[in-house]
Amino acid sequence: MQAADIPFNDLARHTARHRKELQDVMARVLNAGRYVLGEELDRFETTFASYCGTRFAVGVASGTDAITIALQAAGLVPGDEVITAANTCVPTIVGIEGAGARPVLVDCEETTYTLDPALIEEAITPRTRAIVPVHLYGQCADLDQILGLAQRYGITVVEDCAQAHGAEYDGRRAGSFGLAGAFSFYPTKNLGALGDGGAVVTSDPDVAARARLLRNYGERERFEHVLRGRNSRLDALQAAVLTAKLKHLDGWNERRRELAARYRSALDGSSASVPIEAERRRHVYHLYVIRVRERDRFRETLANMGVETAIHYPTPVQRQPAYAYLMPVDRSLAISERLAAEILSLPLYPDLSDEEALQVASAGAVAAKDA
Ligand SMILES: Cc1ncc(COP(=O)(O)O)c(C=O)c1O
Repeated sequence: MQAADIPFNDLARHTARHRKELQDVMARVLNAGRYVLGEELDRFETTFASYCGTRFAVGVASGTDAITIALQAAGLVPGDEVITAANTCVPTIVGIEGAGARPVLVDCEETTYTLDPALIEEAITPRTRAIVPVHLYGQCADLDQILGLAQRYGITVVEDCAQAHGAEYDGRRAGSFGLAGAFSFYPTKNLGALGDGGAVVTSDPDVAARARLLRNYGERERFEHVLRGRNSRLDALQAAVLTAKLKHLDGWNERRRELAARYRSALDGSSASVPIEAERRRHVYHLYVIRVRERDRFRETLANMGVETAIHYPTPVQRQPAYAYLMPVDRSLAISERLAAEILSLPLYPDLSDEEALQVASAGAVAAKDA
């Protein structure tokens, strides 16, 4: 196997393209001398809320914390149950457990790889307090169905938007549908910081106010603690970087969609199943995940042609040693298990050149003939 000509991701390249702009905003923060909370964070929160179409955004330390804090701000207490997708990554589960709640795994749709609304009802118990649909790979879950069910049962919806900055459903952006949305700004995300970061978005003033308290030791006034919170703040440097990068997000997402269209036309009709953009949704291709029966062979062919790939995720939550206890006794999670054996993520990021995209697409077409 030769070294990959096309790495799965290349953050150094991405940062280099915006170096001057980032250095300028970092200098601004260095000079201002306020590094935690303050003006930079306020500015980012206002801009990001407006981008998402919500009234408020509350910057926190990570996407995992955003899930925990959103659930706590929504009033969940230890022992509550939270329904989520079995094929998500472990951080969703860590976020739910952070609020003391018990995750309840439900299988995903075979077409969109998002939580299957038809399977939610049988997982609802008297202790179910929330549903966390995961807008996995950059596409919104079936929000209409999920919100309808939640309303019928009096259950809260907190969207896991960690992979879906700018994704849309019926022309509205991810994060604006549930009581709250939880975002991650991990560096590889569609909107990524230069370190860890996250945000809770909501249009509910009480949820926003509680999230603001919870991220800062539950402190309302100096040394007056009205909630049992934590330290989970988005620092000023990351906030300033994110404000600068947010201006480019739509352009980057557009480029992701363009690359996805190229891959689709190269692979359509082959042995590889390409991602489906469901009706009413605008996919932002955080990851371009195909499905192939002979996945390992396919992957090796790509590697031999200089294309690095990844698997998101090779093991469903219920098969992880730490989370085996989440395997339901009376419901199947068969789709998440089957997908784990067949999915493969191709390199797709805005800085990929046309030539590189062509190389990935051609290698994919060759591998699909082989597999
Ligand atoms: C779907 C999903 N949920 C939650 C998270 C957690 O975000 P973070 O890594 O910022 O804690 C991530 C990212 O890792 C994610 O991809």
